[in-house]
Amino acid sequence: MCGIIGYTGRTQVLPKLFCGLKSLEYRGYDSAGIAFYDRNAGMMCLKEKGRVSEVEALADDYEKNNNTKIDAFCGIGHTRWATHGKPSDINSHPHCTMRVSIVHNGIIENYAELKDELTGHGYGFVSETDTETAAVLIDRFYCDTGDPVAAVRKASERIQGSYAFGIIFHDRPNEIYAARKDSPLIIAEGSDGNYIASDIPAVLRYTDKYYRLEEGETAVLTPGSVTVIKEDGTRFTPEYCKITWSVDAAEKEGFPHFMLKEIHEEPRAVRDTLSSVLSSDIEAFFRENDFDSINIAACGTAMHAGLICKYMTEKLARVPVNVYIASEFRYQDPILSERDLVIIISQSGETADSVAALRLAKERGARTLAVVNVVGSTAAREADHILMTLAGPEISVASTKAYASQIAVMYVLSVKLALVKGKISDEYASSLISDISDNVPSAIDGIIAQKDSIKALARNFLDCPSVFFVGRGLDCLVASEGSLKLKEITYIHSEAYAAGEMKHGTISLISEGTPVIALATEKDLLLKTLGNVKEVKSRGAYVVLVCNEDDIDSIDRSVCDSIIALPPLRSCFAPFTAIAALQLLSYYTAVLRGCDVDRPRNLAKSVTVE
Ligand code: AGP
Repeated sequence: MCGIIGYTGRTQVLPKLFCGLKSLEYRGYDSAGIAFYDRNAGMMCLKEKGRVSEVEALADDYEKNNNTKIDAFCGIGHTRWATHGKPSDINSHPHCTMRVSIVHNGIIENYAELKDELTGHGYGFVSETDTETAAVLIDRFYCDTGDPVAAVRKASERIQGSYAFGIIFHDRPNEIYAARKDSPLIIAEGSDGNYIASDIPAVLRYTDKYYRLEEGETAVLTPGSVTVIKEDGTRFTPEYCKITWSVDAAEKEGFPHFMLKEIHEEPRAVRDTLSSVLSSDIEAFFRENDFDSINIAACGTAMHAGLICKYMTEKLARVPVNVYIASEFRYQDPILSERDLVIIISQSGETADSVAALRLAKERGARTLAVVNVVGSTAAREADHILMTLAGPEISVASTKAYASQIAVMYVLSVKLALVKGKISDEYASSLISDISDNVPSAIDGIIAQKDSIKALARNFLDCPSVFFVGRGLDCLVASEGSLKLKEITYIHSEAYAAGEMKHGTISLISEGTPVIALATEKDLLLKTLGNVKEVKSRGAYVVLVCNEDDIDSIDRSVCDSIIALPPLRSCFAPFTAIAALQLLSYYTAVLRGCDVDRPRNLAKSVTVE
């Protein structure tokens, strides 16, 4: 996700661009830039790797070094969350050609093909980004037609993927053009001019009147007018809605906390991640490298994602996978060579323990693969290979959408390895991939739709001293992540346990009212898990059963006090929906307890110390 802002009007544009970009930095903050029409110097572009404040410093330096004051009333700005091309000055937006300057939020999936075509027509490129391709394409069509709207619409017809564009045509320096497909973009009417923005926070201090551009619509903004053009060419002046949010609420798009917003983003995060990883060369990577061992090193939630990879890879590919807590990796004195693969999973790509494990793996000669959510992060830069999760910035300390994206990668890795090893057929591999792509995002939405009933359940955990999460197979792995979520944001002690193991000691901790969250999503393990549930229920536990809605009728309702029913999904993909339910349960419990959900005590989003 990136942040876009644009303004054309009767007051200076730079303060509005910088102010708007700072309120959008939650959408991405690895680089920033602005392009504007200065009445003395003409079109200018200031951009660099780093935060918005560093671009402000560039503007100050320009004015000092040239003994001048920037005098500009039209401009666009961007704060970046890199997906194609590492964070760098040259990859920062805006991207400029001879005729246009453009900022973009989204992913141009066919940019390589378009880039080759444009290169063949003599166009040059300076960045590694997909966005620059759009800039050159619009430039080309503008050169052909002389009509900005036609140029934008023709380019949009060629682009596959998602985009929200803010565009200035250099020979029309007080106009801004905007277009969107799958990425949000609003138009806002102010008393002193008109705005475009990715999101409401960017304009909230200037106006409360906004219009959400619809799919396929193009907009033309001048200081005194806004015209929207539909896909069928009809033009109209938008009717504005009134913003009722505070700035803080707006950054969360109306959600009370980033964590809840990010849980709601999980379907999109999984969809984007799958799209990216399925178009990667991971299958070829496995075909070219017949590894002796597969090793995973990660921390916390990321390590729990690694456990899913171990389970699925060993089941499908019949290849042993070692999963290490990254901080313990070095003490295992791992025996590694170039015939071994070490996968580092890390949302931030900066976790010191995980980076240390990566460096140790490299010292031992192993091939390394980083599964990260931040382009250009340390792990991404130092690993031999990278697979990106496209969760977008995860602001809340508790990882939710990143975990969902990480396990999406883990499932693809296990299927691809099984295919390469000849353990599963092409047909079966394709059915698994189609299933996860077509059904998982909507199934997660199905859980999110149950949030009110899950919220009601949270009351039962409000004041309990401890909660148990139990399950078998994959459910046991999800129990670990569910337990961590509860601990880190509610401060309630919690323990995840193999359901079959409780009777070997821990069940002594069960007394009247002890909360037990029992995961029973794996059909072929259902009866055994229910047997374990009966063991704790008969000793007074308060049991919440998490199972498939299809199984409810076969369950003796006396074994549990409540049920969270998961939407139909192939059994092995239930971790996506089960964890979404547990994330919501932990979230609502934390809210009821008055905890600082997004910034729990003692925690940091990225633990950069060992
Ligand atoms: C998860 O909710 C925690 N914030 C924590 O366990 C986190 O997963 C761990 O610190 C690893 O972070 P990383 O993915 O950025 O490496």
